[in-house]
Amino acid sequence: MRILLTGKHGQLGRCFQDVLIGVDHELFAYGSAELNIANVQQVAEVIQQVKPDIIVNAAAYTAVDKAETDSDNAYLVNATGPELLAKQAAILGIPLIHVSTDYVFDGDAVEPYLPTDPTNPQGVYGASKLAGEINLAATCEKHIILRTAWVFSEYGHNFVKTMVRLAKERDQLSVVADQYGSPTYAGDLAKAILRICEQHEQGKIQAWGIYHYCGDTPTSWHGFARAIFAKAESLGVIKKRPQLKAISSDQYPTPAKRPEYSVMSTKSLGIIGVVASDWNAKLKFVIEQS
Ligand SMILES: NC(=O)c1ccc[n+]([C@@H]2O[C@H](COP(=O)([O-])OP(=O)(O)OC[C@H]3O[C@@H](n4cnc5c(N)ncnc54)[C@H](OP(=O)(O)O)[C@@H]3O)[C@@H](O)[C@H]2O)c1
Repeated sequence: MRILLTGKHGQLGRCFQDVLIGVDHELFAYGSAELNIANVQQVAEVIQQVKPDIIVNAAAYTAVDKAETDSDNAYLVNATGPELLAKQAAILGIPLIHVSTDYVFDGDAVEPYLPTDPTNPQGVYGASKLAGEINLAATCEKHIILRTAWVFSEYGHNFVKTMVRLAKERDQLSVVADQYGSPTYAGDLAKAILRICEQHEQGKIQAWGIYHYCGDTPTSWHGFARAIFAKAESLGVIKKRPQLKAISSDQYPTPAKRPEYSVMSTKSLGIIGVVASDWNAKLKFVIEQS
């Protein structure tokens, strides 16, 4: 299978390249310099030249706070980009696997969000990602959109790596305890995407649409930090856990409002033959690499 990957330098992009090592598929992977997904001409040229069997879009504008004052760029990458990819996928009659976010929801729910629940993004990033979902779905029928959340990996910048670094530097840390979500290991998401590609190759994907791919056990940022410190201490990566203080979102203001409760239900994943991320089990590997 010829797989075209965008966003190859990101967390997901790098994990996806790792899961393809030793696997019998041809990967055509691009960073933004070679394939800017918001550039109509470049998108058409690269895709028509490669003629992939499937496209995986791991590229996105992910600077959640910066997006509040850089909305044009956020929309270009997150709304126009997926639409341009979808146009080319539709021309070739191939599927597009795309990744979206829990930030399409407002966070006012009291039980895990289903893919069919109403969206109501609270910031520019979430709104731009939602626009991307809508544009893509309207352009290319054969699509799988995986909404994910709280992504961490051995690559790039993420909460796990930040917590391990801070734990080495400080005796006390304050972490928000009133926002709940579902941590996701990018390597698990990458494996799930490869499985979806292979399921498609075998003609087993019938139900195109939106799915939630995230961790199987929800927690708060405070709970996530506690799990990270416990694992880091047991591995000897930090000498002693810092004292962990629970604070409220009000005590940690950010330019973009975060959803209070963005836990997503992964129940429907069985339809596309994948299982949710076992994030707690993957902490060891990521912390060892940090
Ligand atoms: N990180 C999270 O916590 C989180 C949470 C929910 C959902 N998500 C979603 O999960 C997906 C993967 O996220 P991630 O954490 O892997 O992101 P990431 O590490 O920030 O990587 C995003 C990549 O997108 C590329 N990119 C930016 N603008 C581009 C453009 N115009 N054309 C082509 N590539 C462009 C960048 O490429 P270059 O380096 O080459 O410039 C970057 O490497 C995204 O769709 C994101 O919205 C992430």
